[in-house]
Amino acid sequence: MKATAVANTNIALIKYWGKRDETLFLPMNSSLSITLDRFFTLTTVEFNESFNKDIFFLNNIPASEKEENKVFNFLNKVRQFAGTSLYARIYSENRVPTAAGFASSASGFAALAAASTRALDLQLSEKELSTIARQGSGSACRSIYGGFVEWQMGMQIDGSDSFAKQILSEEAWDISVLSVLLATEQKKVSSTEGMKRTVETSPFYPGWLSTVEKDLIEVKEAIRYRDFERLGIVVESNSMKMHATMLGANPPILYWQSGTIDVIHHIHKLRLSGTYAYFTIDAGPNVKVLCLPKDEKKVYESLLSLADVQEVIICHPGSGIKYLE
Ligand code: DP6
Repeated sequence: MKATAVANTNIALIKYWGKRDETLFLPMNSSLSITLDRFFTLTTVEFNESFNKDIFFLNNIPASEKEENKVFNFLNKVRQFAGTSLYARIYSENRVPTAAGFASSASGFAALAAASTRALDLQLSEKELSTIARQGSGSACRSIYGGFVEWQMGMQIDGSDSFAKQILSEEAWDISVLSVLLATEQKKVSSTEGMKRTVETSPFYPGWLSTVEKDLIEVKEAIRYRDFERLGIVVESNSMKMHATMLGANPPILYWQSGTIDVIHHIHKLRLSGTYAYFTIDAGPNVKVLCLPKDEKKVYESLLSLADVQEVIICHPGSGIKYLE
């Protein structure tokens, strides 16, 4: 009763920000992402009657209590779904090209959902797998699929209609996503905590909710017509709007560092000089820059010239879940 799965991480073009149900990980809004080809988690799960407790190793060392709690809670949901009480051993590795800054709960819980359900021999559709992965970390439901992926928020209170689906395969449209790693020391507020505080306290959150669906429609149109400029404009504005909701939270949340703002201005300058590049920023200081593959070398080199930029990793749309025998 053992299985290994690999999941890539994803970057949201239209952000998931806010939950309507924290236990089930049900979002306040639908979101859309690109699964990336460079950052992934590889996870092996084994269930065995002889195990008398759960064990979780992350990057070859025993995981922290906080990490264990999240993972074991998720495993309890899988066990409940499968009707088993067997304990498990979990070995998980975040394979990222650099030591810090890119570890992701999206690839982590997507790989864990896939490996644990396969180890228990549950024959799940991708839709069912996405629904389960969502309950470990919301963004994980999108990493089940490759390419361009939409997570429909759903309406049901049990979450049965809240899952992701692929809208365009990774081969169908190649765009470049440059992951910009900045020098940073600061301890960050987790996405989970950041979105909770924003929903509960930010007067700007209703503004987010009343416009995000329109942004989503616009991005889907841009993807449909492979209109990169149209895509970039709405992606950048959606990310800025998410961060604006956090600035209004109490206490306010600011994920940006000075290097983050340098990258923002740099991208604006690139556009003024005729290169179509756009940025998006998640719940942290690092920036992802979107551009067309023909411009990627130029954008890459120009980003590396900025003082606070430590590393830039060029990504492209990547594949969904894979199982290793
Ligand atoms: C800003 O999926 O990490 O990256 O569901 O609480 O685990 P939890 O949050 P998580 O939040 C991701 C937030 C985001 C936007 C996005 O990926 O859509």
